[in-house]
Amino acid sequence: MEIAGKVAVITGGGSGIGRGVGTLFAERGMKVVLADMNAEVLDATVADLQGKGHEVIGVRTDVADFDAVQHLAEVAFDTHGNVHVLMNNAGTGGGGTFDDADMTQWRRAIGVNIEGTLHGILAFMPRMIANDEEGYITGTTSGSGAQGTMYSGAPYAATKNAVLSLMESLYGYLRERGSKLHAACLFPPLTRSGMGSPIVVDMLKAGGVPAALAEPEELAQVVVEGIENNAFWLNPTPDQDERFFGGRLKEIHEWQGEMIMKKARAMIEQTPPDPYLWSPGPYPGS
Ligand SMILES: NC(=O)c1ccc[n+]([C@@H]2O[C@H](COP(=O)([O-])OP(=O)(O)OC[C@H]3O[C@@H](n4cnc5c(N)ncnc54)[C@H](O)[C@@H]3O)[C@@H](O)[C@H]2O)c1
Repeated sequence: MEIAGKVAVITGGGSGIGRGVGTLFAERGMKVVLADMNAEVLDATVADLQGKGHEVIGVRTDVADFDAVQHLAEVAFDTHGNVHVLMNNAGTGGGGTFDDADMTQWRRAIGVNIEGTLHGILAFMPRMIANDEEGYITGTTSGSGAQGTMYSGAPYAATKNAVLSLMESLYGYLRERGSKLHAACLFPPLTRSGMGSPIVVDMLKAGGVPAALAEPEELAQVVVEGIENNAFWLNPTPDQDERFFGGRLKEIHEWQGEMIMKKARAMIEQTPPDPYLWSPGPYPGS
């Protein structure tokens, strides 16, 4: 799908990956609506991009609140007449543990990561379909839930795995209807953001997991190229690794492949999940 001149909405667009993708979308001539619950980062990003002459607006939104996401959709459609790319990207890494029966943190992870993605689909898709133009709806998952299982972060792993199922199901739904909309799943490698940092690189390595830090600007190129090629998997390929990341994701890519194969093997042979369970190690020095 061609993106120049089209309209994109990105949740969690105030910082990190959302900000990086929003910036590249704007540079490629898209009209961009950024949504974030953090007004400070949202305003700063919108001001920065507007200052560079881009057509960008911001709407403060908590994606866990369906009314708020419906309001976001109203603003986007009222402003631009259509939305071509909806990037459900807002996410939270926090969550509860198995030791604590207080559901507050679990509900937040479920509300933001799963329901937030669903809210985006339900609030935007009917009008995107009615406008009968080519479009894209993405969900942001994570290797933590879908390439092996990061068992020490159960709320994150479980909710991100659910996002993958949601987007696979949406793909099937759209395919069956011969829709002009595409569904896609973004698998960010560890990326510099509010969630990804050199500290996380060290934690992963301490847990025996290969890690390198990608930049949001690098990952944004994977998203744009994926949309241009109508890809479902927005996950850097070895070729994109060479072109956009200087080849530093090679070891990670191989490790992810092994995790997926180990999981498939365990399911087929009905053996315990040990081979594909992983965890970041403790903070260095703790
Ligand atoms: N950075 C990584 O290494 C990495 C890896 C895999 C997946 N992800 C996923 O990528 C997405 C983007 O995260 P990031 O790494 O850019 O982190 P980030 O913290 O820099 O950005 C996330 C943004 O989402 C916003 N947000 C959080 N909850 C929200 C809510 N309920 N409603 C609206 N906005 C909300 C935050 O304010 C923030 O601006 C997340 O879904 C995350 O789970 C990140």
